[in-house]
Amino acid sequence: MERTLSIIKPDGVRRALVGEVIKRFEQAGIRIAAMKMLHLSREQAKAFYAVHRERPFYDSLTEFMSSGPIVVMVLEADGAIQKNRDLMGATNFKDAAPGTIRHDFATDIEQNVVHGSDAPATALTEIAFFFSALEMV
Ligand code: CDP
Ligand code: MG
Repeated sequence: MERTLSIIKPDGVRRALVGEVIKRFEQAGIRIAAMKMLHLSREQAKAFYAVHRERPFYDSLTEFMSSGPIVVMVLEADGAIQKNRDLMGATNFKDAAPGTIRHDFATDIEQNVVHGSDAPATALTEIAFFFSALEMV
């Protein structure tokens, strides 16, 4: 079983898409091993996205990610990282395949509803950013 980190971003929470996103995970056979809602500070958003600190969208992205509550989850499945990325769709909703979360709901390349870890090493560090071992069931 593999674990990955999922975030329903502030636009997804504001637009009442939490249930829709979780339904898609559950219907794909993904188990939720941990979940909580929180509101990142600007500093916390900058730390989470530190890998992108040289990118032109870093300031705007971290402002957006700290603009309201998010829902963070640890997803568990065989191949959870890729399964989640497949459900999410491409970063830019204009390139995302029909039936993916970003195709169906994103409004903007930045405001794209969900985050998902992109590789085993990032999944480990991103899960540890939000959850302790005791919080995963
Ligand atoms: O989220 P994903 O792994 O698909 O994409 P990323 O390349 O790791 O970028 C992280 C996030 O930055 C994206 O999900 C977008 O919210 C944002 N982004 C942006 O605003 N403009 C871009 N040109 C690329 C990414
Ligand atoms: Mg990424």
